[in-house]
Amino acid sequence: MEFTVKSGGPEKQRSACIVVGVYEGRKLAASARQIDQISGGALTAILRRGDLAGRAGQALLLHNVPNVPCERVLLIGCGKEKDLAEGSFRTILGNAARSLSDTGAAEAAIYLTDLEIKGRDLNWKLRHAVETIEDALYRFDQLKSSKNEKRRALRRIVLMVPRRSDLAPGENAVRQGKAISKGVKLAKDLGNLPGNICTPSYLADQARALQEEYGIKTTVLEEAEMRELGMGALLSVARGSRQPPKLIIMEYRGGKEDEAPVALVGKGLTFDAGGISIKPAAEMDEMKYDMCGGAGVLGTIKAIAELGLPINVVGVIPSSENLPDGNANKPGDIVTSMSGQTIEILNTDAEGRLILCDALTYTARFNPAVVVDLATLTGACVIALGAHASGMMSNNEALARSLIGAGKYAHDRVWQLPLWDDYQRQLDSNFADMANIGGRSAGAITAACFLARYTKKFKWAHLDIAGTAWKSGKDKGGTGRPVPLLTTFLIERSEKRGHAGQ
Ligand code: BES
Ligand code: MN
Ligand code: ZN
Repeated sequence: MEFTVKSGGPEKQRSACIVVGVYEGRKLAASARQIDQISGGALTAILRRGDLAGRAGQALLLHNVPNVPCERVLLIGCGKEKDLAEGSFRTILGNAARSLSDTGAAEAAIYLTDLEIKGRDLNWKLRHAVETIEDALYRFDQLKSSKNEKRRALRRIVLMVPRRSDLAPGENAVRQGKAISKGVKLAKDLGNLPGNICTPSYLADQARALQEEYGIKTTVLEEAEMRELGMGALLSVARGSRQPPKLIIMEYRGGKEDEAPVALVGKGLTFDAGGISIKPAAEMDEMKYDMCGGAGVLGTIKAIAELGLPINVVGVIPSSENLPDGNANKPGDIVTSMSGQTIEILNTDAEGRLILCDALTYTARFNPAVVVDLATLTGACVIALGAHASGMMSNNEALARSLIGAGKYAHDRVWQLPLWDDYQRQLDSNFADMANIGGRSAGAITAACFLARYTKKFKWAHLDIAGTAWKSGKDKGGTGRPVPLLTTFLIERSEKRGHAGQ
C-alpha cells in the first residue's frame, strides 16, 4: 500500500473516499462534524435514521453527500469517546481498512487521526495507522492454487493531519510505520510457511536475501563448523532430523565502527514435534511457528535496514528441526554445550534452550553491548500471560525498562517475570551440571534460568514469545511480533532516548 501525509479539511478533498469517525451515541468526531456542516446536516440526518450508532466495528458507506467534492464518505464506528484507548484506536483503523477494501475506491483520505487518545500524539497515531492498516490487509495466499480473491481496488491511503507543520514529522512517522510493517510481513510470511518449505536451509536463504537487498553481511555456519566450535547442545537437537542445521549470523553495521552492537538471538526451530518426548497430535501443526524468534530477528533487521538506522546490530539464529528418530536425543542423554557446561536432557521437547544456549555462547565473540533473545520457548508462558504480553526476564534492570517502554509505545508489550536465583535449584541434575527442565512450576522462569547460565557476561534480556508470535483458532497465523517492539527499541537506542515508563 502507498501511504502519504496531507493537510487540509475534508471540504476540499477530491479523494475517492473520505473516512471519518462517529462515536457511540451518534456523536461526530471533528472532521465528521465539518462534513456535516458543509453538507447542511446530511450526516446528522442519516444517523438519525438509525443506520449507525457509532459502536466499534460498525461502518456505513455514503455516496453523493451534498457539497462534498469526493465520491464517497465512509463513516466508522469508534465506540464510546471516553473509552478510546490505544488498543481500540488500532482496532478502529483495522476496521476502516477492511471496510475500505470492500469498496471500489482506489484512494482514500483517512481523517481518523483526529480521534483523541490520552497521552498519544499525532506521530504515534500515524505510525500505528500505517501498521494496523497493513496488518488488516495482510493475506497469506501464496500456497493456494487459485487466488480467487478479487483484486483490491485500493491503492493509496492519504493520512490527513491538521496543520502544514505536521507534515514533516508525520512523514517520518509514516516512514517508520512502513519499515516496521515490512519487517512484520516478512516475519508473518516465514511463520505461516509450513515446515516442509520453511526449513533451516530456507531460513538461511532468507538471510542471504537480506544480504542481497541491503548489503547486510551474512554468514551461515554448517554442521561441521558447529562441531569444531563444540556446539554439542545445538547439534544434539539436529541429530533427530534429516534437515541439516544452520547457524545464521547477520551483521548490520549502521553505527560507528567501534560501537558495540546489540545482539538479537532468535530461536529458529522450523518444526517442533517434541522429539522422543513427542507432543500430542492435536494442534501439532502450530509447531511450524517455533521459528518465530528467528523470523523476528530477520524482520527486525529488515525494518532497521529500511530505515538505515545509525546503530550496529548482530542477528544470530540457531536453526534446526526437533523430530523423533533412531538417532535423536533420548531422555537421560547428557550433552556438552559450547560453554563447556554439561546438560542432562530429561525432556527432548525442551529443545529451544538447547539450541539457544550454544548460539548465546557464540554471540560473545561480537562483544555485544546488550543481548536480547527471542523464542517461542514455553507453553507455561502462554498459560501465564496469554496472547497479549510476551514474557520478559532480564539480568539488567535498565535494559528491562527500555524494553518495557518500547513495548508500550509499539503496542507490542512485554511483562517482566522474576529471574531470582531461588528458581535455579529446580534445574539441578544428579548426573550433569544442569537438567534441561525444571519441573511443572514456573516453567517460563526456569527456562529463562537455564539461559541465564549462558549469559552471565552480558547485559541480557529474554523474550518468551510463545503466546504472542502467532494466533491460534480460526484466524490462525503469524502476528509478526516482536518486530514492532524490537524495532522501536532500536530506534530509541539509536536516538539515545526512550519511552521508559510511558
Ligand atoms: N516450542 C515449545 C514451546 C511452545 C509450546 C510454544 C506451546 C507455543 C505453544 C517448546 O519447545 C516446548 O516444547 N517447551 C516445553 C518445555 C517443557 C518440556 C519443559 C513446553 O512448554 O511444554
Ligand atoms: Mn519443544
Ligand atoms: Zn520448541
